[in-house]
Amino acid sequence: MPLHDSPAEPTAVTAIVLAAGAGTRMRSELPKVLHEIAGRPLVGHALAAVAGLGATRTVAVIGHGRDEVSAAITAIDPSVLQVVQAQQRGTGHAVKVALEALDAPPAGTVVVTYGDVPLLTSATLSELVESHRAASRAVTILSAELADPAGYGRIVRGGDGEVQAIREHRDASEDELRIREINSGVLAVDADFLRRAVTALRDDNTQGELYLTDIVAHAVGDRLPVGAHVLEDVWQTEGVNDRVQLAQLGRVMNDRLVEHWMRQGVTVVDPATTWIDSAVELAPDVTVLPGTQLLGATIVATGATIGPDTTLRNVEVGAAATVVRTHGSDSVVGEGATVGPFAYLRPGTLLDAGGKIGTFVETKNAHIGPGAKVPHLSYVGDAEIGAGANIGAGTITANYDGVAKHRTTVGEHARTGSDNVFVAPVTIGDGAYTAAGTTVRDDVPAGALAIGEGRQRMIDGWVEAKRPGTSSAEAARRSRETRE
Ligand code: UD1
Ligand code: CA
Repeated sequence: MPLHDSPAEPTAVTAIVLAAGAGTRMRSELPKVLHEIAGRPLVGHALAAVAGLGATRTVAVIGHGRDEVSAAITAIDPSVLQVVQAQQRGTGHAVKVALEALDAPPAGTVVVTYGDVPLLTSATLSELVESHRAASRAVTILSAELADPAGYGRIVRGGDGEVQAIREHRDASEDELRIREINSGVLAVDADFLRRAVTALRDDNTQGELYLTDIVAHAVGDRLPVGAHVLEDVWQTEGVNDRVQLAQLGRVMNDRLVEHWMRQGVTVVDPATTWIDSAVELAPDVTVLPGTQLLGATIVATGATIGPDTTLRNVEVGAAATVVRTHGSDSVVGEGATVGPFAYLRPGTLLDAGGKIGTFVETKNAHIGPGAKVPHLSYVGDAEIGAGANIGAGTITANYDGVAKHRTTVGEHARTGSDNVFVAPVTIGDGAYTAAGTTVRDDVPAGALAIGEGRQRMIDGWVEAKRPGTSSAEAARRSRETRE
């Protein structure tokens, strides 16, 4: 039920995301818009904001690092039309190139945003478009009042407060430089006006570029209505130009994500040391302890406790599970399962409900069945551990023969002894036992006990004879003398 839409005032929105710039100040091999905050490239944040706008068409203008940027955009949203701006001749030129690439001229409103402004939200873009339509303007600028406006284009207003122009910092007069209201660069523009205005742009400025911002003076000259939508939340207008800003905006975005999850019912004991990527999903009554990073597509179900000092990337954690001082990726932790302290879950770990991966345990490509336990000091790789099985302390799956990986299978409710080596491929049957210190090279039948070690042999008096004068020899002598 858009308030301000009527057949005469089309609701169509075309979004143009400018992302062709070089990003020289990043000093990076990686194109600027592919640097990440909250686990998502800058251009991904820009496209997510635009996606929430429900645009009819989204055009991304790319240039520098186009192959990499193009691949990233395709991966994020293949429906985005990508246009190459071979030479960066200014924001106005970029928009011109975008408009020329459309198969039909845009109707309604065109929204221009930047690929390097990551905190801008869909809600803000929607408000901008609403305000633009409500006032039936030719151009609506998303502006903000900054304490330090240096570098930004300034919003020049007339005596009546009406917007008259955007003046670039480099082209501004002394008086204009004192203006604190800045152009965020994000604009809503009437599509028909924009098509006319970009063809009239001139490069008679200090940078010899086509400035998109010059369309404002053009509209004013044509007595078309121009205005600004002033954004209180100035972080949303901030762009990334160097790695200092990348970290600052990354911190602010994280603060926002952590706050969002707290409001959704997640307990975060220490927001300052908790990092949550934008794609993460947390259920109510999850508890996140200090020093925890929840990254990628990590999903945590209700009642689970994560941390302290835990990093999970693409890990699914079931309800009421606990994951303590753990580093994990591409793994699943079942309901009520426990992990850590000091566990390393490598990709393909699947710990079923009620299972345990304990202390100093590394797992990889391993399915640990319901209620099964790997409590201490073990490496379990390429393995299938049956329900209710218990793996003894210090167990190693020798899964690699130098050429190929092999699987170890342990049956249900098996009890394997401490300090075992399972030389894969090998199978230990259901309910089987293995003795401490066994190197299991041959399959163990269900219900059997495997004892692999050579028997222990004693050489009496060896220490006193071979290590005379040592504290051990002295202790041995005292013991012998009390016995004698
Ligand atoms: C621009 C605005 C300025 C505003 C500021 C906000 C103009 C002329 N100036 O200045 O008023 O305060 O942004 O940050 O618009 N880009 C292209 N192709 C180009 C040039 C730029 O795609 O040919 C892209 C860049 O990748 C970047 C964005 O447009 O994402 C802005 O370009 P940038 O050079 O940073 O503009 P500013 O000089 O900062
Ligand atoms: Ca900039």
